[in-house]
Amino acid sequence: MPDLVEKLTIKNMQPEDVDEVVAIEKQSFSDPWSKENFLAELDLPFSWVWVAKIKNQLTGYCCCWEIEGELQIANLAVHPKFRNQELGRKILQEILNRACQRKVKKVTLEVRESNQFGLKLYYAFGFTEIGRRKRYYQKPVEDGLILAKILE
Ligand SMILES: CC(C)(COP(=O)(O)OP(=O)(O)OC[C@H]1O[C@@H](n2cnc3c(N)ncnc32)[C@H](O)[C@@H]1OP(=O)(O)O)[C@@H](O)C(=O)NCCC(=O)NCCS
Repeated sequence: MPDLVEKLTIKNMQPEDVDEVVAIEKQSFSDPWSKENFLAELDLPFSWVWVAKIKNQLTGYCCCWEIEGELQIANLAVHPKFRNQELGRKILQEILNRACQRKVKKVTLEVRESNQFGLKLYYAFGFTEIGRRKRYYQKPVEDGLILAKILE
């Protein structure tokens, strides 16, 4: 396991984290969430909004929505400088651990069909494709794949 993963701490996102989160978001997605989108997430009772830090360096984040026993991963990204060092795996593992503790039955998400590293990450954790949303994404227009994992 790379050293970085051992140094990673995952905490609830705070308003003061949001500017850094938005900076990573803009480098990660062509249709990024805004600062207002993230601030709104912090107030939603069903939203898990986490940041992953190494000391004070924000290296990644995720937003999930837990609704009636199902969890949707709405957003997950790792800072470009820290990618391919297992931080994405660590964040996803933490999401699944918490989901198990909370007796979540099913975890879903949507991903661009061209997102090879996103797909690699999710398939490695046993997610499978359960559907496709035609031309769901903009900039560029692309199908979205709906992935799901059933939890025991
Ligand atoms: C998808 C993302 C979160 C993965 O985070 P990460 O920390 O780089 O991923 P990890 O290091 O944990 O690696 C996950 C898998 O992707 C592979 N991978 C990641 N980056 C890679 C690269 N540059 N080259 C080759 N493989 C790579 C890893 O080898 C690993 O595969 P494995 O399980 O078969 O070994 C990150 O690329 C990212 O933030 N992308 C932009 C936002 C995004 O697409 N989010 C997901 C959709 S919601």
